[in-house]
Amino acid sequence: MKFSSFGNFLTSGSGILTLMEDIDSALNSSAEMRPLGGGNPARIPEMQRVFRDAMNKLLADGEEFERLAGKYDGARGNARFIDGLATLLQSRCGWDVGPQNIAITNGSQSSFYVLFHLFAGEFNQGKKRKILLPLAPEYIGYADVGMGADLFHTYRPTIELRGDREFKYHVDFAHLDVSDEIGAIAVSRPTNPTGNVLTDAEVAQLRELAIRHEVPFILDSAYGGPFPNIVFPETENLWDNNTILCLSLSKLGLPGLRTGIIVAHEKIIRAVTAANAIVSLAPGSIGPGLVCAMVEDGSILNLSDQVIRPYYQEKVKQAVTWVTAAMKDLPCRIHTPEGAIFLWLWFEGLPITSESLYQRSKQRGVLVIAGEYFFPGMEDPWTHRHECIRISYAQDAESVQAGIAIIGEEVARAYNESTSKTD
Ligand SMILES: Cc1ncc(COP(=O)(O)O)c(C=O)c1O
Repeated sequence: MKFSSFGNFLTSGSGILTLMEDIDSALNSSAEMRPLGGGNPARIPEMQRVFRDAMNKLLADGEEFERLAGKYDGARGNARFIDGLATLLQSRCGWDVGPQNIAITNGSQSSFYVLFHLFAGEFNQGKKRKILLPLAPEYIGYADVGMGADLFHTYRPTIELRGDREFKYHVDFAHLDVSDEIGAIAVSRPTNPTGNVLTDAEVAQLRELAIRHEVPFILDSAYGGPFPNIVFPETENLWDNNTILCLSLSKLGLPGLRTGIIVAHEKIIRAVTAANAIVSLAPGSIGPGLVCAMVEDGSILNLSDQVIRPYYQEKVKQAVTWVTAAMKDLPCRIHTPEGAIFLWLWFEGLPITSESLYQRSKQRGVLVIAGEYFFPGMEDPWTHRHECIRISYAQDAESVQAGIAIIGEEVARAYNESTSKTD
């Protein structure tokens, strides 16, 4: 049996596959593992109650569940959900959108597969274009979407040091070059892995650059507004015809229902609809069906702001305290946690790579993610890439606290080993 180049690429290993396998083994293995690695959202009791009630209502109706599960939606996705969402985005966000601007996908990971291939790769007359990532570290899931093709042009950020323990990345506009080889500009906000929330001014400047260069601005809002809105500073949620907003039901607490949402210009929605038809006939109906009523009555926004955001805000405060206690006087800085469900730790001068730190922590039953995976398309041999790790604080408090303490011990061991070598 011989695989094609596509098959060989798929089976040659990818960061995102390792990550998903780690999540699976941590959640399903009998050995005690502390899963601080994956992007699984927390199981927030109040949200679980809301989703269970919604499911009970669907089942009690006597027909609604059968209608949802017993037929294909159109290739653009569930029409009632799309209508409800368009009305919500008009009325609560003030955006000039209609149903023609919205498509559903089987999770926003699949949205990115389609969007990146729409705007990067081969064009007429042998021209090639790439996706500009203005600030890496950026989401690990983008890295292999090109299936081996080199899809990204990626920039380092500037680093603002904040006191003794924190830092924040900023877009380095002084060096950003939107050449005619760029097909789109993309950012996640809040950013996975760092919890960075690009400032409104940074977003405005990126949108303006995209418009000036006639390329779309792809805004990955998997953790952001208008839902689930795990964003701690006050920020604006904007949309225009040149913005491709990618939303998801995953971080509301429904990753298993695999529902992504794209809000974009009609022409892009038609292309996404065609991709849905080719790849999967139609996106799944259960996610949209389950949250449809919450979109129609607007409660999806209230739950995001009043339940989900405060829940993570409380968790992040605890996690920062545990990191501070565990890292004592080690050279550890935390990226200011402004959103999402992660802490990004930077160990300046770490004597081992973050991949080795990942391996050592895994040996001790703690899963984190090594920083080097979060620089899709960056060729720059920047040591910073090997000095950071991402930890999730979404899981139960005991695991997070104990996991952070073990990481602290492993980091201390690495520094001690290097000091004793040089003695
Ligand atoms: C920044 C970001 N974008 C997109 C996704 C993909 O989410 P999903 O495919 O579950 O909608 C994730 C998942 O963790 C993410 O962190």
